Amino acid sequence: MQKTLILLKPDTVRRRYAGEMISRLEKKGLNIMAMKMLRVTKELAAKHYAEHTGKAFYPDLEEYITSGPVIAMVVSGPEAVAVVRLLTGPTNGIIAPPGTIRGDFSLSNSYNLIHASDSETSAAREMAIFFAPDEILDTNITE
Ligand code: PPS
Repeated sequence: MQKTLILLKPDTVRRRYAGEMISRLEKKGLNIMAMKMLRVTKELAAKHYAEHTGKAFYPDLEEYITSGPVIAMVVSGPEAVAVVRLLTGPTNGIIAPPGTIRGDFSLSNSYNLIHASDSETSAAREMAIFFAPDEILDTNITE
């Protein structure tokens, strides 16, 4: 079983799609192990998006991710990192295939509703930014 970090970004909360996103993750068979709503500060944004802080788009990314509440989640399942990236679709909603979250709900490279860790290493780093170890619960369903 793998764990991965998801952020339901401010446009998801504003557009009232949090339930839709959570439903898609659950229907796929992923287990929710942690979930919290929070405001991302500039400091938290720089920590989470450390590899992007020097890029031309970073000021826009910072403005967007700090613009309203986000919902941070840890989900688990077999190959969860790759599975969640498949569910989200490519970064740019314009080319994301229908059936993916971004393909169904985004027409933008910036306002793309959801963040998902891109590797197990990133997942471990990002989970530690948003959650203390005791906030990640063993919720593996056996029935
Ligand atoms: S890169 O340079 O190829 O690694 O970047 P990319 O994977 O395309 O994007 C990394 C994250 O930055 C977000 N992004 C933006 N946000 C706001 N405004 C603009 N212009 C913008 N360009 C890229 C993109 O959605 C990725 O966010 P996450 O949360 O990691 O999916």
